[in-house]
Amino acid sequence: MGFETHEPAGDDCRDPESKGRHLDVCLSGPVGYRKSTGLECYDLLNQALPELCLDEIDLSVSLAGRILRAPLMIAPMTGGDARTHELNRILVAAAQRWGLPMGVGSQRVAIEDPSRARYFQLREEAPDAVLFANIGGAQLVKGWGGAEARRAVEMIRADALFVHLNPMQEAVQGGDLDFRGLAGRLARLCEELAADGVPVFAREVCFGLSEGAARELLACGVAGVDCAGAGGTSWARVEALCTDGEGERHLGQVFGEWGIPTAESIVNVRRVAPDLPLIACGGLRTGLDVAKALALGADVAAMARPFLIKAAQGPEALDAFIAQVLRELRAAMFASGAGDVSALRGTLTPR
Ligand SMILES: Cc1cc2nc3c(=O)[nH]c(=O)nc-3n(C[C@H](O)[C@H](O)[C@H](O)COP(=O)(O)O)c2cc1C
Repeated sequence: MGFETHEPAGDDCRDPESKGRHLDVCLSGPVGYRKSTGLECYDLLNQALPELCLDEIDLSVSLAGRILRAPLMIAPMTGGDARTHELNRILVAAAQRWGLPMGVGSQRVAIEDPSRARYFQLREEAPDAVLFANIGGAQLVKGWGGAEARRAVEMIRADALFVHLNPMQEAVQGGDLDFRGLAGRLARLCEELAADGVPVFAREVCFGLSEGAARELLACGVAGVDCAGAGGTSWARVEALCTDGEGERHLGQVFGEWGIPTAESIVNVRRVAPDLPLIACGGLRTGLDVAKALALGADVAAMARPFLIKAAQGPEALDAFIAQVLRELRAAMFASGAGDVSALRGTLTPR
């Protein structure tokens, strides 16, 4: 079930109304982890004599073979019905204006019901943005492969594909509970899509990656990972708030704090994969968080719920938020003496 639903499995399991509940809860409910990302355990090292002009700091980075104007990503959230399409259109227009990459939410609904594909049409609004398609790892176990992945990529004319990994979310929902054989299927998918020139990135959704998981993903041949960790939106908590089932609610509450904090998740990936393209996500809320995530080893930092909340307020609120985050990032780089993103690496000290 994953991001598609929180209802008991059945014919109505992809009811857009149930999908809307995720959105409502994320817009207004107490869905945050109590524990932090762990980034507060680090400081960027102040450089009293930066040989830099703040306005000339270079924020550009590359991802999935494309150049981004800044290392900030709109994380995958939604799509598949009229309301989520509207939100995605606001988000993708901002991605286009600011030169940022963006992911769409799980496209399972539209692969299973092609009449919904129109609710993922975003390319016209963002001809130049780097877009990531999205399918669930659990679907690979159920037999999806290159054909479905290609449909997801073609549907949004994506530059790359995310395969989301979310065993804890599925366990809380009582959703897709068999993850056996996933690594083998992911490896096959990476190979198939590499032949088409489509990079496959694997992503946790907020529970983080261990060193072991990172090693396995590397062996699968993924083109990159998003190590989304704990400290921001807790998807166990989201599911607890969305479900009508007593047992599921209890599970979601018990596991509300489950997950590897984002800072640790970044370090875990970097220990085993020093050069693998790495997106960090989960609880990043300011430009300083972004700077610390990059300094710890991420290539790009992503946010989900902060962008959702601003998009719901409209394009101006979203623009103001992006401008502020980039201003904070530039300030952090300036005072660390980092003229570009690569120079940020290693400017962190443990607190
Ligand atoms: C409303 C909403 C829907 C989401 N749906 C998806 C999804 O379909 N696929 C996915 O990979 N991640 C999904 N996510 C997870 C986010 O991409 C992100 O990993 C997570 O929310 C942690 O980031 P945050 O703390 O900045 O919110 C969703 C997040 C939100 C807020």
